[in-house]
Amino acid sequence: MRKDCTDLFEVMGRRRSVRSYLPDPVGEEDLNRIIEAACSAPSAGNLQAYRIVVAKDPETRRRLADACWGQRFVAEAPVSLVFLAEPAVSARRYGTRGAELYSLQDATIACTFAMLAAHALGYGTCWVGAFNDEAVLRAVGAVGAGLRPVAVLTVGRPRASPRTTGRRPVEEIVTLDTLERPFPYSASDPRLRRPSM
Ligand SMILES: Cc1cc2nc3c(=O)[nH]c(=O)nc-3n(C[C@H](O)[C@H](O)[C@H](O)COP(=O)(O)O)c2cc1C
Repeated sequence: MRKDCTDLFEVMGRRRSVRSYLPDPVGEEDLNRIIEAACSAPSAGNLQAYRIVVAKDPETRRRLADACWGQRFVAEAPVSLVFLAEPAVSARRYGTRGAELYSLQDATIACTFAMLAAHALGYGTCWVGAFNDEAVLRAVGAVGAGLRPVAVLTVGRPRASPRTTGRRPVEEIVTLDTLERPFPYSASDPRLRRPSM
């Protein structure tokens, strides 16, 4: 039996975007766990203003890949999770801010939790954000439901080791107290470091 990788820093540090998949299915128990992880994420007012469509059917996956401007690995992955913001749910309590910001953030962090959980279970994932919104809605039968697609998360066993991407230098991104003052960053956990960080 495969052992879960439960060290959060290990999981975050080892994750890479995977764009080539084996046909091996994602186990039902694993899929349920990934979904539980997504739904356990925090959300504004605990409203969970999103929907998740689990795309397993090959025809649905093919249509999703087309919707993602022909990114073929989307059809290759045995499962994709489609995260859709549900603005009306958040708008009921938070008005425009709920509709335009919180619902997107709710869906985004749910997807993040799912991505890390899938990786902890030994799957590869890729966050796909380049798609035609209407085509994604059509692919998952959600036209006219008031939903906005936020992310397509592919999940499956990696076919090959994905490449390691670098990161911008921390100093370019992080400051102390104000935007101008440098933050005295020093490297801490080698597992989390990427080239040029
Ligand atoms: C919002 C967002 C949108 C993305 N869209 C795509 C996409 O459409 N296609 C793709 O292949 N990768 C996509 N990615 C993955 C990034 O390219 C990837 O995370 C980045 O290059 C860093 O590599 P790493 O994930 O291996 O660390 C997206 C990632 C994010 C967070």
